[in-house]
Amino acid sequence: MNKCIGILTAGGDSPGINAAIRSVGRALERENIHLLGFRDGFEGIAFDKCEYLNQNTYSGILTKGGTILGTSRNKPHKMPVGKKIIDMTDAIVDTYKRRQLEGLICIGGGGTHKSALRLLEQGLNVITMPKTIDNDLAGTDNSIGYDTAIQIATNAIDSLHSTASSHKRIIILEVMGHRAGWLTLASGVAGGADVIMIPEIPYDLEKVAEAITRRSRQGKRFSIVPVAEGAMPVAMAKRYHELLQKKDQASSRGDRDKVKAELDQLWQEHTGHSMRIARELETLTGLESRVTILGHLQRGGFPSAADRLLATRLGVVCAENIFKGNYGKMMSVQGENIVPVAIDSVAGRVKYVPLDDLLVKAARDTDTCLGD
Ligand code: F6P
Repeated sequence: MNKCIGILTAGGDSPGINAAIRSVGRALERENIHLLGFRDGFEGIAFDKCEYLNQNTYSGILTKGGTILGTSRNKPHKMPVGKKIIDMTDAIVDTYKRRQLEGLICIGGGGTHKSALRLLEQGLNVITMPKTIDNDLAGTDNSIGYDTAIQIATNAIDSLHSTASSHKRIIILEVMGHRAGWLTLASGVAGGADVIMIPEIPYDLEKVAEAITRRSRQGKRFSIVPVAEGAMPVAMAKRYHELLQKKDQASSRGDRDKVKAELDQLWQEHTGHSMRIARELETLTGLESRVTILGHLQRGGFPSAADRLLATRLGVVCAENIFKGNYGKMMSVQGENIVPVAIDSVAGRVKYVPLDDLLVKAARDTDTCLGD
């Protein structure tokens, strides 16, 4: 009987996922290994929703955005079933065995890697590829979808320049990235933004207003301000880091859950922060402000050439590692190379923008205010 490998995509979709499915599927097919695609993330393997992929499936998907398998954020141990949340880990192990899988490929970001580790610990041969527009996955320089998202956000900054200039306005552009600032920083620098606000550098709006006022005095008619969805003022950052520390030090599950609830509450209150920033900057500078929230446009549409190339390289290296039986690994992008690294060394870790990152220096040295 031919060998069979399962594959699923989980977490937020990212342009380039299909290119990775095509690449690993075609490479495995050359060795007569079949791919069984599970639908909608871990839900698919929990409830055995699947279909065999073949050459017809792979035709025409290289350029397609989203994921042909569907995705969800449902976790193996916290799966919504009707109105209940159930631990479906055993059911997943069951499907894996019943389907006589040799291994399971998971394409995903931070959450997916935590779930992948859980399944690995249950004895499944898990292997992963990094995918997130946020680029916040530890242990890899890059992830599928990040380049496309940078391009989309950069295009938005380019477009906002003319309207901001015509109306002498400040335009705040809210950019995705979860709790990390990679996407905002990269698109901000690529688009020549005037102020860039990222979670790693807590902001002081008085300082932002000073930078904008300075520009006005120099005769500059507008300011473009990309703000990461996770960017926070100094006071909130202090509270946030205190809570993170408290969570790490919590001695019981109950204490940990309590701190988690406090963190959720803090983020809940943070919703709409771009609007607040715009209003406050209007008061502080006397200039009219507008807000654009890019939202899911950043994850939509077709993948860039760079993401297609990255996904295709990741897919063939993933297949090579499957041939060798080298499971328990994430295919990590390290410069020009793709190297397998242990999933347990990356799961649960977030890659933030280091304050000494060259792009941070590049922004500062090209007169971009970073809000501090
Ligand atoms: O993790 C990717 C991401 O796009 C984040 O940047 C954003 O915070 C989140 O997903 C949005 O998630 P959802 O699509 O579930 O609203």
